[in-house]
Amino acid sequence: MDKHPIAVAIDGPAAAGKSTIAKRVASILGFTYIDTGAMYRAFTYAVIKRGLDPQDEKASCSIIPEVTIDLLDDGRVLCCGEDVTKQIREPLVSGNVSYIASYKDIRLALVDIQRAMSKSKSVIMDGRDIGTYVLPDADVKIFQIASVETRAERRYKENMEKGIPTSLDDVIADVKKRDYIDSHRAFAPLRPAADSVELDTSKLDIDQVVEEVLKIISAKTGLEVPCH
Ligand code: DC
Repeated sequence: MDKHPIAVAIDGPAAAGKSTIAKRVASILGFTYIDTGAMYRAFTYAVIKRGLDPQDEKASCSIIPEVTIDLLDDGRVLCCGEDVTKQIREPLVSGNVSYIASYKDIRLALVDIQRAMSKSKSVIMDGRDIGTYVLPDADVKIFQIASVETRAERRYKENMEKGIPTSLDDVIADVKKRDYIDSHRAFAPLRPAADSVELDTSKLDIDQVVEEVLKIISAKTGLEVPCH
């Protein structure tokens, strides 16, 4: 257990590259990476799997007591013990997850797990409300942005590599729709924390973003960045 656990929050709109960067930075610093979006996705999968309508708040919230979600150290995501790592990236889940993420009771249940995970160890957590709501006292808060086109192209390439069939137009539409729902919901909407550092990654490659994030963490915490 770390003596003084450090918490780094990375928030930002859909497909801004948060998870790629957070994973790399976590591995360089020896921190635990927590992908909160994967938790909302896994819950969405559970709703769809039970034949419920993700746009029906009451029905979706009714399964809170029976859904368990585990993020494994090797990156796999389990939902009620089932490995759903690939399924949660499918368009059916991506297209519905913003509805699920707008329900307060589901958010409260998942936020409890997220806070518990960051209690005793240094973490990098990515999501939409980490700096504003989940970890308001995080040592470092980064708000990562990029243009809609850049984000959609990155997500499209990622889907192709993972063998998930999509068209670029569909990905653009999905990114825009999720940005809208995520930033307009009543409870814990997507917005930068007042004390966050904005990082526009539109013109940067992955290595450059990683270096920027490491610089920000080092400046805010005094942590020495190991050779990498
Ligand atoms: O980061 P992602 O695309 O995997 O997130 C999936 C959805 O979950 C996204 O549309 C918004 C929601 N989300 C959220 O509301 N709060 C978080 N902390 C993380 C994700």
